[in-house]
Amino acid sequence: SGSADLVIVANRLPVDRVRDAEGNPAWRRSPGGLVSALEPVLRRNDGAWIGWPGGDEAGLEPFTEDGLRLVPVALSAQEIEEFYEGFSNGTLWPLYHDLVAKPEFHREWWDAYVAVNQRFAMAAAETAAKNATVWVQDYQLQLVPQMLRELRPDLKIGFYLHIPFPPTELFQQLPWRRQILEGLLGADLIGFQLAGGAANFVRLVRQRVGHRTHRDTIELPDGRLVRARNYPISIDAAAYEELARSEGVAKRAVEIRAQLGDPETVFLGVDRLDYTKGIRARLRAYGELIEEGVIDVGKSVFVQVATPSRERVEQYRLLRDEIDRLVGRLNGDLARIGRPAVSYLHSSYPKEEMAALYRAADVMVVTPYRDGMNLVAKEYVACRFDDDGALVLSEFAGAAHELRQAWQVNPYDLNGMKATLVEASRADPKERTRRMRALRKQVLENDVAHWADSFLTDLAGDVKPKR
Ligand code: G6P
Repeated sequence: SGSADLVIVANRLPVDRVRDAEGNPAWRRSPGGLVSALEPVLRRNDGAWIGWPGGDEAGLEPFTEDGLRLVPVALSAQEIEEFYEGFSNGTLWPLYHDLVAKPEFHREWWDAYVAVNQRFAMAAAETAAKNATVWVQDYQLQLVPQMLRELRPDLKIGFYLHIPFPPTELFQQLPWRRQILEGLLGADLIGFQLAGGAANFVRLVRQRVGHRTHRDTIELPDGRLVRARNYPISIDAAAYEELARSEGVAKRAVEIRAQLGDPETVFLGVDRLDYTKGIRARLRAYGELIEEGVIDVGKSVFVQVATPSRERVEQYRLLRDEIDRLVGRLNGDLARIGRPAVSYLHSSYPKEEMAALYRAADVMVVTPYRDGMNLVAKEYVACRFDDDGALVLSEFAGAAHELRQAWQVNPYDLNGMKATLVEASRADPKERTRRMRALRKQVLENDVAHWADSFLTDLAGDVKPKR
């Protein structure tokens, strides 16, 4: 066995192997909410992180980057296609997100999923010290808990699902539903974003696998207990606030507004370019408001940052083309010289630039059809130490359960969304402040340290029965 007392196992490392302009290998921060939430946890706990470094480069040794102990797991080009793009993002991702796109079921994809999960389990078994804690992350690695328990029965094993756990009827479509449930049951504690997801899981285990269950506890035939609970994930809110308060960010926020032509109202969307995020619907709603003369392109602009994501998966390519076309049409029809309707940025930016954008935005628009949590909404709130700014938030984001004071919308209801965009952008400053204060209290009190501590404390055995 290895020497790490806490091991995080995630599909991705927090950094991605890329080539710089001269073609030399370099590291870049990985996209997505999982990495932004777990990086501060690893820093505080001095553990190791096992993950895929991106790309198909083989033979990378464990290394330390920016103080983090990282253990790369290589994927071949074929595994990237079948395990990552295929089963993870062509089957599980759409199935777990309410069928926003149609999942595909392929037996070769499943075989690759099993093989790659086995490789991650072996890497974890080699890295973890005796009696260590291993915390397995997300939908790409649902078989690892059971595989790892077979290799290392001494370990404490936790699992956390960052995306929604689907309603039981949808999960039942999966030809490999039983294997997935059993894979997860290798853990001592299984964490979900929402109580509903945990309840769905327990019901499935009772109905499909036949184990006895009592509220959040499952009893296995050998007497071992597994718990399934919700732990809503968060961000390092204080660190975001501090960044937002820095002089550099303050200056950049003013500069961004000037570069946008000093509009009265800046609307902002920030997402991975993903079909679950409702980017099209929100831009259509905004475009209609301009067409109807409710919003004036001379006075408002919509800045949409879309981080490139999963670009070799067909549905993502199609989405990119659709957004390109929609933004082109909106600007072609509605813009004036120097006054775009939509300022579209297909790119990813460092945290400093994001904090400046959040500070510069009057209305933050987060409208996913389905989202496990959505940390962008929390980042916006954390950056608004001025108690200003309006958050428009989909009811179907996990974050809506905590961020009750946001202007909540149903992204399937275009007229409702239009009305709310107008209401949020014209709200009285007192009303904005009242709501933002309540949101900030929520986000600052329930930060990522609180999330990780609750999970790791429960995993360590201090489990108090839940009401
Ligand atoms: C979501 C998932 C993560 C994933 C991230 C980025 O946040 O929950 O597991 O890492 O998206 O997606 P990618 O496919 O680029 O890793």
